[in-house]
Amino acid sequence: MLIEDKYKRYTVTAALPYTNGPVHIGHLAGVYVPADIYVRYLRAKGKDVIFICGSDEHGVPITLKAKKEGITPQQVVDKYHHLIGDSFRDFGVSFNIYHRTTSKTHHETASDFFKTLYDKGVFTEEVTEQYFDEKANQFLADRYITGTCPNCGNENAYGDQCEKCGTSLSPTELINPKSTLSGDKPVLRKTKNWFLPLDKMQPQIEGYIDSHKDWRPTVFGQCKSWLNGGLHPRAMTRDLDWGVQVPVEGADGKVLYVWFDAPIGYISATKDLCDPALSEDKKRDYYFNEDLKPVAAWEDYWQSEESKLVHFIGKDNIVFHCIIFPAMLMAHGKFKPADEVPANEFLNLEGDKISTSRNWAVWLHEYLADFPGKQDVLRYALTATAPETKDNDFTWKDFQARNNNELVAIFGNFVNRVLVLSHKYFDGQAAMGTAFTSEDQQVLNDLKVYSDKISSSLENYRFREALSEFMNVARSGNKYLADAEPWKLYNTDPERVKTILNVGLQIAANLAVLAQPFLPFSAQKLSRMLNIPQLNWDQAGRTDILETGHQLNEAELLFEKIEDQAIEEQIQKLLNTKNMNEQQETVLPEAKANINFDQFSAMDIRVGTILSAEKVAKTKKLLKLTIDTGLDQRTVVSGIAEHFDPENIIGKQVSILVNLEPREIKGILSQGMILMAENTDGKLSFVIPGENLANGSVIR
Ligand code: MF3
Ligand code: ZN
Repeated sequence: MLIEDKYKRYTVTAALPYTNGPVHIGHLAGVYVPADIYVRYLRAKGKDVIFICGSDEHGVPITLKAKKEGITPQQVVDKYHHLIGDSFRDFGVSFNIYHRTTSKTHHETASDFFKTLYDKGVFTEEVTEQYFDEKANQFLADRYITGTCPNCGNENAYGDQCEKCGTSLSPTELINPKSTLSGDKPVLRKTKNWFLPLDKMQPQIEGYIDSHKDWRPTVFGQCKSWLNGGLHPRAMTRDLDWGVQVPVEGADGKVLYVWFDAPIGYISATKDLCDPALSEDKKRDYYFNEDLKPVAAWEDYWQSEESKLVHFIGKDNIVFHCIIFPAMLMAHGKFKPADEVPANEFLNLEGDKISTSRNWAVWLHEYLADFPGKQDVLRYALTATAPETKDNDFTWKDFQARNNNELVAIFGNFVNRVLVLSHKYFDGQAAMGTAFTSEDQQVLNDLKVYSDKISSSLENYRFREALSEFMNVARSGNKYLADAEPWKLYNTDPERVKTILNVGLQIAANLAVLAQPFLPFSAQKLSRMLNIPQLNWDQAGRTDILETGHQLNEAELLFEKIEDQAIEEQIQKLLNTKNMNEQQETVLPEAKANINFDQFSAMDIRVGTILSAEKVAKTKKLLKLTIDTGLDQRTVVSGIAEHFDPENIIGKQVSILVNLEPREIKGILSQGMILMAENTDGKLSFVIPGENLANGSVIR
């Protein structure tokens, strides 16, 4: 029995993206694509499953973004909620609902949840000293504060985390703290907050984690290292004004900690999803999928032992989903914590860490615009290099190769050959000729073996492995056709050709079933070509899906080759980003004080030509130049030897300040100064007249 048959229901969540920027391929590879594969697999098996996501609209990154753009936080979240929701929908991520944490349902749910814990006396109340910005007149939580990481020395660590070494921090641990609002050094001020006493809950949490030794080693290991370090009480409220109001007395100007409210967002979304009276307006705002209406009540998905709860997240979310949220759910009493947390490592892009602030990313909405109709290609490329066990790298060349050498050359090519030959020889009808040979029987029997392997990989959250087994089915089909060579037999033995194509068609029909989780658009297209409905997963392995006389539809291409030019355009886009970042990172020298006109016109600058150039012995930087200034030929010593080879600059025109007082450099009398322009990256170039001018021409 497969593991999945144990449960009656599935609640699958995907991390709620922050609405301070669009979604990129790192999010997709780490969270949304694997989650969607898993959910589509369960649905293809006919399981009762809900797939929950939504926008994480509170938290400091959003207020900071609003401040930067001069708009309100609400405007920021409205913009990104729809940008992200639309791109998920167009990409084919099949959420039942894409909810939002600014919704009324969520504010109520999160507020009630807090109140329940509060009334049960779960929280401890503590007055602590928190950083306060006197100029901005507000407390500085989390990302409102930056400073030097005590762990690795990174000077740009945030108050909640150092992104360089990954350490989780609290603002008071930062060395040289600085307010991101005013840039000032903050002062400490007393304030009251409510803490979740994770220290006291440690035994219970430890018991929970230890009952999940089967989790991915990276996930289980991270949990154990937190536990071994000893858990500490953690503040669940913040002195901020953007978020869910703390629903107790004496908590004015305080909101719930974003990591308290956000995961409750999964529950709020389920409530609205299961509410038969949800208004049409809200359905639209929450991308409510009418085709996927749930059959049970929200409590059944969250409070029943018969439901399996699975959180898809990236590795930076592990502590929140494996320790803090389960602790909250256990403290509440009615909820069941996660059964599985298949967290992924990170995806890099062309060798560099993906970064929203540095625009180093492939944005989903831009991909959809640049590669229309190619959702499955990106799903395929991201799954084939999914960062399941270690960080991985996305490159455009690999993307192109995956498409051209695998999707086109293996899957697409096989399907196309079977369909085209069936039309050519038998008017597009499935048929059966002579009896199956033992080779035929072997390939057909393998179909069941493959589909079992794929199921088992999927149920163990090994999506890369599952995908590669899927491609092996197409490979086996290609090999079968190449060995059987029906095109050589048609004239002499058409009955044998019928049988060969029948075997090919059964493989194609199996591919249409097995492709559903990974490549949903192509699975649909293939089913249409084969003229079959989307079949239940358990039909995979059958060798009689297409009966004799079944009429096929016209063959279309499943995948198209991606040309070099399209790939080069994407690479160029990234190079432009890199250049822009480098320019922004360089600090320009400060502007100098004004001079008067007389000071300017006192300089005698002329056009000259370099007649000879040689290195000055025993120096690295100096060249001895002879310049024809029109007035004379003179020697100038110039510090440009690291930038130019002497032989390459002879004959070049330059600008030279000729009335600079002569100076002895390394025993050579230097008479003048060559004007150079220094790029922000330190590269030097000559300041040369735009056209050839006579030596001695005046520059003014
Ligand atoms: N917004 C968070 C992030 O992008 C994820 C929140 S997941 C939730 O890292 F569980 F809190 F909702
Ligand atoms: Zn650090």
